[in-house]
Amino acid sequence: MCGIVGYEGTREACDILIEALSRLEYRGYDSAGIALLGQGTIHIERRKGKVEELRKIVSGAALKGSIGLAHTRWATHGVPSERNAHPHRAGDVVVVHNGIIENYLALKQRLKRAGHVFMSDTDTEVIPHLIADYAEKGRNFTDSVRLALKDLKGSWAIGVLKESERTLVAAKNQSPLIVGIGDGEYFIASDIPAIINRTDRFIFLEDNDMAIFRGRDMRLTNVDGEEVVREVRQVRWTTAMAEKGGYSHFMLKEIFEQSRAISDTLLGRAREEEGEVEFEGVDLPDLAGIRKIWMVACGTSHHACMIGRHMIETNLRIPVETDLASEFRYRDPIVSPGDLFISVSQSGETADTIAAMRDARSRGARTLSICNVLGSTLAREADSVVFTHAGPEIGVASTKAFTTQIAVMFLLMLFIGRKLGTFGCRDVRERLREIRAIPRKVQSVLDTTRSIEAAAERYMSFRNFLFLGRGINFPTALEGALKLKEISYIHAEAYAAGEMKHGPIALIDESMPVVCVSPADRTYKKTCGNMEEVMARKGNIILISDDETHEMAARAAQVIVVPRTIYELQPILSMVPLQLFAYHIANLLGTDVDQPRNLAKSVTVE
Ligand code: G6P
Repeated sequence: MCGIVGYEGTREACDILIEALSRLEYRGYDSAGIALLGQGTIHIERRKGKVEELRKIVSGAALKGSIGLAHTRWATHGVPSERNAHPHRAGDVVVVHNGIIENYLALKQRLKRAGHVFMSDTDTEVIPHLIADYAEKGRNFTDSVRLALKDLKGSWAIGVLKESERTLVAAKNQSPLIVGIGDGEYFIASDIPAIINRTDRFIFLEDNDMAIFRGRDMRLTNVDGEEVVREVRQVRWTTAMAEKGGYSHFMLKEIFEQSRAISDTLLGRAREEEGEVEFEGVDLPDLAGIRKIWMVACGTSHHACMIGRHMIETNLRIPVETDLASEFRYRDPIVSPGDLFISVSQSGETADTIAAMRDARSRGARTLSICNVLGSTLAREADSVVFTHAGPEIGVASTKAFTTQIAVMFLLMLFIGRKLGTFGCRDVRERLREIRAIPRKVQSVLDTTRSIEAAAERYMSFRNFLFLGRGINFPTALEGALKLKEISYIHAEAYAAGEMKHGPIALIDESMPVVCVSPADRTYKKTCGNMEEVMARKGNIILISDDETHEMAARAAQVIVVPRTIYELQPILSMVPLQLFAYHIANLLGTDVDQPRNLAKSVTVE
């Protein structure tokens, strides 16, 4: 989704902004632009396509200025084009925006009647015109911004620059925006990786906050103009964590980081000797009398929720309902006061997941968030938050966030089990022993990457794939298919293996490989039956299993064996080869693995 960066300081802003913008590329975008305020006027450059195109233009132009804004646009209103790229300008007001202005048509008509002329098809362009309109009516700059914001309906993170006053304003409502505090300089950005090499001190702006930067000073107010105080927080992510570190893609690096990421996620929490799980510094909701748990998310995080449901229902016998956040929020869900609502999100900024959590809270649920980003909206707004310690995830296709989410869900399941008396220390100790071994087992799967690459070579030219799994392995199949389609653009769909005969079986022939996730668990025999059905129709099976002597192994076209663990954790080990399979196919096909077309890392609009 759109990315915003801004700078106010004493150094030349151009290179700083372009570099920060390239660190936001992973969010997904189709055009880019920059506005720089030098001694005189604001200079704007915009380009369709990659930040690199913009870099070429501005490096030749030797743009000067120590205040500026830059933007990557992910089209919502109006096609990707230079005309629709940000920044947008009205008079001497320049704006970059992330979000959607829902009432832009009404505002545009009002402004047109007042003589404003529009140059783009975007919703964003009404913002500079509104601000300029209030300024023309005699309001000072910050008041004009405040009044304009009050006219808007929808979501926004904006950066506003006014030429005549050499002032920069940042404001947000329902879209993320952070302020980075440097030495005599300030940065604004959509997220931490953009400016992690510039500072480790951040202010996470809250809805309706405005940060006003003028002459090296920063003032924080709300949209009513009242001063607000926000904590400055130190973030321990390092620059290296947000760089490729010798790997050809962020996604590959992140797949290979999973062993470390899971270890970090367990650190200090899995107290094996004591047979306890501790979440230090986390004030978890009171779990007494808990009757129902909700697990709600989008995309990959939703697949993790489906795995979490299996763990919790099987072990704790508490009913769990999972849902896609975009469905949950519009179906008038029957949430009872006291239900535990768990929102799961890598970014903590997914618009639908945030809305779903707010909805659940308004219905009386206790809220808990499983999240990877400190200071994100979900982390701030939930009653409690348990962080995955995956480190920054830059590749659009989520990998290490997924496996660390499963690790947190497992710990949470043990924690709740101890609190409710379902588990004794011994039960917890035995299970912690299993999860402690997972990083080593993940590493052993990673070590087989060459053979998975060879399998990818054999299958890269197929145009359709079916993924099958049962029980806890069905979400693994869903996630395997999602990984493949996201980055290789090959059509891949997943089905619960038992449901295959109700439709997809009609598609099976030699041209459609079928990936079967079939560990030796309670679903084993039934999935073998489904594989027979596939083979009877000349389907090629790619088998993922922890069982070297799997009864279908000899007849499968490809077998990938992973180490064995307990039922609840097997999805982590089954998933790693599927991530590698998708990665290698995409890499061999030469697609843009880290920034696949049309996708965004953080979906901050509905
Ligand atoms: C986007 C990303 C996915 C991610 C989903 C949910 O679609 O491309 O990788 O799973 O959003 O994101 P979240 O940050 O809430 O986990």
